[in-house]
Amino acid sequence: MEGKKGTVCVTGGAGYIGSWLIMRLLERGYSVRTTVRSNPEFKKDLSHLTSLPGASESLKIFNADLNKPETFIAPIEGCDGVFHTAHPVDFERIEADDATIKMAVQGTLGILKLCLNSKTVKRVVYTSSISAIMYNKSGLTVLDENTWTDVDFCRTAKLPGSSYCIPKTLAEQAALNFAQETGLEVVTIVPSLVVGPFICPHFPSSNHLALSLIMGNRERYKYLTRPQMVHIDDVVSGHIYLLECPDVEGRYICSAVHTTFLQLVKFLSVRYPEFRLPPLDLTKEMEEVKPVELSSKKLLDLGYSYKYGIEEMFDGAIKSCKEKGFLQS
Ligand SMILES: NC(=O)c1ccc[n+]([C@@H]2O[C@H](COP(=O)([O-])OP(=O)(O)OC[C@H]3O[C@@H](n4cnc5c(N)ncnc54)[C@H](OP(=O)(O)O)[C@@H]3O)[C@@H](O)[C@H]2O)c1
Repeated sequence: MEGKKGTVCVTGGAGYIGSWLIMRLLERGYSVRTTVRSNPEFKKDLSHLTSLPGASESLKIFNADLNKPETFIAPIEGCDGVFHTAHPVDFERIEADDATIKMAVQGTLGILKLCLNSKTVKRVVYTSSISAIMYNKSGLTVLDENTWTDVDFCRTAKLPGSSYCIPKTLAEQAALNFAQETGLEVVTIVPSLVVGPFICPHFPSSNHLALSLIMGNRERYKYLTRPQMVHIDDVVSGHIYLLECPDVEGRYICSAVHTTFLQLVKFLSVRYPEFRLPPLDLTKEMEEVKPVELSSKKLLDLGYSYKYGIEEMFDGAIKSCKEKGFLQS
């Protein structure tokens, strides 16, 4: 059945952002097609999607893989809009391997070519990341959409997270160049660390990272030197806003909270005294680094606003983790 608002495709719909986005799109009256990778070894649990209100009438699930862009033909055909969220999220490896870069760039370009050829897709919203902004030698403390991660700098400095930020940067640049060359409407949303409740069965990597202080995962503290965060519901409404807003162009940062490692430890210790957090003197090894602010002015000037603060982000993430057994009650 055709949704009142039209038909949209969400790539990577089984993921953290993808599944929350599908939930909100169905609520708003869209017909949704989504893609997941097929896994012949075990049947993927998609009940978080199939049990959503409205899913039986308005959600269709397809198998597609970025390594084979032609697998996206069927889900994209006839759609009015496409949200391209699919991308492997792995902060742990340092080196970005050529296969991941090729998959991210060629997979994204393949999807955009299909959108162009479809003649029905009016706009593509591509999910980028602040990883495509933050890593450079600019030394700026307020960053906006004009700043790009310097891929050569990431490679030579062997920065933690390079395996993620290099393909994200190159894929976003390729998407925006494609838009300029072909006239296809492509906008990119550039979220910071997405924190909050979740409906997917896996523990989302970003919540895992945000909760590493509570879970005592010291290996991951280095990713929280200058935490910038946004609530899952705000990032999803940002995606939908960018699809529906008439005049949009280029990149849009979506990041609500900018803090420091020490401020985050203090906030968590006061709000969640039941968890054992690292003693403050231990956090000295993390040197209080000047926070970097990511300016959302461009998005806010469109009329978009954030609804949630840090309290709702962590309350929601902790509640979902407890419900799904990732954290002891
Ligand atoms: N969470 C954050 O803090 C954050 C912040 C900024 C940007 N982002 C971006 O948001 C998007 C979604 O991230 P997430 O946090 O929701 O992560 P996630 O839960 O790991 O979801 C990632 C999705 O990408 C799909 N995917 C991975 N490799 C693929 C491939 N080769 N072909 C097709 N699909 C593939 C996965 O599909 P399967 O289900 O089939 O495995 C999964 O559904 C990503 O583009 C990420 O870079 C996330």
